[in-house]
Amino acid sequence: MFYAKNKAGKAEVSINFLIGNFTSLPFKTHEFDFAFDLGCFYHVPTEERTAYIKGVFRVLKPKATCFLVCFSYGNGVAWNHFRKAQIKKLFQDWFRIEQMDHVSSVEGDGIARCFYQVLMQRLSDDITRTGNGKMTNTSMFMLCTRLCIGEI
Ligand SMILES: C[S@@+](CC[C@H](N)C(=O)[O-])C[C@H]1O[C@@H](n2cnc3c(N)ncnc32)[C@H](O)[C@@H]1O
Repeated sequence: MFYAKNKAGKAEVSINFLIGNFTSLPFKTHEFDFAFDLGCFYHVPTEERTAYIKGVFRVLKPKATCFLVCFSYGNGVAWNHFRKAQIKKLFQDWFRIEQMDHVSSVEGDGIARCFYQVLMQRLSDDITRTGNGKMTNTSMFMLCTRLCIGEI
């Protein structure tokens, strides 16, 4: 926190820093237009991944943007080195994936590591989730109705 505040001070930007657990975010529902996760999601234990994703979904406004950067399989096999299909499966009930790029970058320690950069749009609240990324018939009907009446 000290390091971050110091850096923000030098850059002359005003930032409200908070300390918390990202599997139970201390923010209001629909509070943000944008979420940026640089290297945090891959620290979430497997059994807490859904809580993390639901939390980010909750604090974002409908149609808000989320940008995620996480380790990829390019760094070798590990529980938190993701493949494209895995990221899609984890997030698809909550976000529409708009772009996913496999990139590598040299980090501070001089070692090149591989990442996925994922640009997503938060889905709306009225989609009933089935657990496999597909909408239920009711959700599909509601979505079609809203499209027909020009609401979306
Ligand atoms: C790879 S670092 C990235 C930090 C920062 N985004 C950056 O780019 O410098 C991952 C961070 O996630 C934090 N972290 C791990 N588990 C967490 C949790 N459950 N809640 C909040 N932060 C957590 C770690 O303390 C660490 O600072």
